[in-house]
Amino acid sequence: MEWKNKVIFLTGASSGIGEALALAMAKRGATLGLLARREELLKELAAKCEQGGGKAGYYAVDVTDAKAVAEAAEELRNEFGRIDVLIANAGIGGNNSETQNLNPEAVAEVININLLGAVNAVSAVLPQMLENKSGQLVAISSLAGFRGLPKSAAYSASKAGMTAFFESVRLDVQDKGVAVTIIQPGFIKTPLTSGRKSKMPFLMELEDAIPLFLDAIERRKKFAAFPWQLAAVVRVARIFPAWLYDRIAGRAKFRE
Ligand SMILES: NC(=O)c1ccc[n+]([C@@H]2O[C@H](COP(=O)([O-])OP(=O)(O)OC[C@H]3O[C@@H](n4cnc5c(N)ncnc54)[C@H](OP(=O)(O)O)[C@@H]3O)[C@@H](O)[C@H]2O)c1
Repeated sequence: MEWKNKVIFLTGASSGIGEALALAMAKRGATLGLLARREELLKELAAKCEQGGGKAGYYAVDVTDAKAVAEAAEELRNEFGRIDVLIANAGIGGNNSETQNLNPEAVAEVININLLGAVNAVSAVLPQMLENKSGQLVAISSLAGFRGLPKSAAYSASKAGMTAFFESVRLDVQDKGVAVTIIQPGFIKTPLTSGRKSKMPFLMELEDAIPLFLDAIERRKKFAAFPWQLAAVVRVARIFPAWLYDRIAGRAKFRE
């Protein structure tokens, strides 16, 4: 895939993975529609993307607002003619006591942003992609969606749901010119993981992770999971019987 002149709709663009991806894609000549809630950050990022060689527009929108997400996508299409790639990246870790205590509103917030926010973004772009018989949907899911993790019920559920949602959509669009790429990273140093004191196995630097995201998108991979060491552990854990999984995973302390 050639990035130059590709029109990319990127949610969660204002920090962390989204911000770094935006800058990397701009450097390759892509045209970007940057979406997140913090307008000042988006404005600065759009300017940096243009200085870096790309084109960029931005939308200060909450992904849980389906209508506003659809309007942002429409604006991007009106300006640049089409959307080639959606990167559904907006998300929160829900790493707080309300979520861990299963406060229903706190859990709903994680699921609304991480899962339903991605659904809103897909709904905003897919009809036009199907009409053009061309496009790519990219989910930034997580290795946390493979099996339930301790103190992570909301986050694991949101990412398991996201993976399943995009995989189901892939089955429905596979013969219609639209590719679906599900990316499942482990721990990456970003504002999302920065407050944690616990050990995060195989924690990656953002600069080491970005080429892996770009490669998965360029090659239109169906799945990409990294770092490979943690992905291997998680894949093996997936086939553990429940008694063994509970004994081992119950001791993990990623969220403390
Ligand atoms: N870092 C990791 O270790 C890791 C591992 C696996 C998967 N992931 C996933 O990667 C994605 C990006 O995470 P990150 O690590 O880059 O975290 P981050 O730096 O906290 O970035 C999260 C982004 O999502 C946006 N966002 C959050 N809620 C939103 C909402 N309601 N509407 C619109 N945008 C919203 C934030 O922007 P605003 O606050 O400005 O809205 C921000 O741009 C997330 O989906 C996360 O689950 C991260």
